[in-house]
Amino acid sequence: MRVDMVIKNIGSLVTCKDLGRPKVGKEMNELEIIEDAYIAIKDGEIIEIGKNDDYKLIINSYTKIEDAKGLLATPGLIDSHTHLVHGGSRENEFSKKLSGVPYIEILNQGGGILSTVNSTKESSEEKLYDKAKKSLDRMLEFGVTTAEAKSGYGLELETELKQLKVANKLGKDHPVDLVHTFLGAHAIPMEYKENHQPFIDIIVDEMMPKVKNLGLAEFCDVFCEDGVFSIEETEYILSKAKEMGYKLKIHADEIVSLGGAELAGKLQCISADHLMAASKDGLKIMAQNNVIANILPGTSFNLNKAYADARGMIDLNVAVSLSSDYNPGSCPSENLQFVMQLGCLGLKMTPNEVLNAVTINAAYCIDREKSVGSIEVGKKADFVLFDVPNVEYLMYHFGINHVHKVYKDGVLVVDNKRVIYNNI
Ligand code: NIG
Ligand code: FE
Repeated sequence: MRVDMVIKNIGSLVTCKDLGRPKVGKEMNELEIIEDAYIAIKDGEIIEIGKNDDYKLIINSYTKIEDAKGLLATPGLIDSHTHLVHGGSRENEFSKKLSGVPYIEILNQGGGILSTVNSTKESSEEKLYDKAKKSLDRMLEFGVTTAEAKSGYGLELETELKQLKVANKLGKDHPVDLVHTFLGAHAIPMEYKENHQPFIDIIVDEMMPKVKNLGLAEFCDVFCEDGVFSIEETEYILSKAKEMGYKLKIHADEIVSLGGAELAGKLQCISADHLMAASKDGLKIMAQNNVIANILPGTSFNLNKAYADARGMIDLNVAVSLSSDYNPGSCPSENLQFVMQLGCLGLKMTPNEVLNAVTINAAYCIDREKSVGSIEVGKKADFVLFDVPNVEYLMYHFGINHVHKVYKDGVLVVDNKRVIYNNI
């Protein structure tokens, strides 16, 4: 078989091996590491990995050989929860937030998510595209090769579709693969504050079928929170979404312990996200129903809130993934490496647990475990060369970008920390 490329002289190759299901408990702390390794690639896929130069495949004059110079290789990172496409920014609320005004109060005053809804309505498709592309380039520079992207800054059909169309176009144009989520139930517009039901009917009867028919999103998500969508409202929306063929996610128990984790178990959501205030019973129900806990420590850091109980989740055999929640309000940063460092410093996860949480477990979180999340034969050749001596160092030396090179589908797309693709 003709080999397109071999990356050799990899100091440590961390495979994040797929066990055929999300990693739980002690498995989360286990990493397979091959020293002095190589990766062989054909047509964008991994066809062989091994030690030294013991290639079983035939290397010929067509094969490009690259030297990894002893660096550490991991699977391309996966950011499984982002609000990538949105208009504007919210630095005007920063001082208010710093003086202690709660996130939900800012929203109830018509700011927060509702302010970004206005900016998103006012932005043209081109403007939204250019802004999101800049963010996606930044994510890629930090080692992210696959990301999820939510809508939710329209709260009416036209703008929700605009956001999703921009995200879908970007997903096709850009090296980073995107997975799309409809989050029409992200906030209650002011005119429906007193009576949510007519807005919920619009979401379920108009928006969800349209988005589904146009093939613009495969997941449906709801912001289930005190003062936003109640447990009953969330259950109604997500049950309808399930009937329509969406896979389910839920913003659960972020600020108040409402029972979002329990609901995620009942509906067998693929993931429940945030969970800073989740109850122990809720976490047990999640474990029983194989719901992944997608924790977002950048949001805890930025909102100055308690971190989710990651250690308790791991003890209860809940599979944990980590992601950025990149959005203009509760986490205005695309830096997944910082989120990983907070995974250790804030959530008290081990570096090994964190790496599994942003690779293979994150792949399960977005239903992409068949193609990404680990460096294994048959998967996409998505991987990162980090300029670090070991996995611990990646989490320990915080706040900087450790990426040296990123390969996406076997193509070098980031070199010396800068994007170098030119296909847009
Ligand atoms: O996941 N909590 C709800 N949604 C986002 C924040 C969106 C925003 O503030 O613009 C979150 O934190
Ligand atoms: Fe979010």
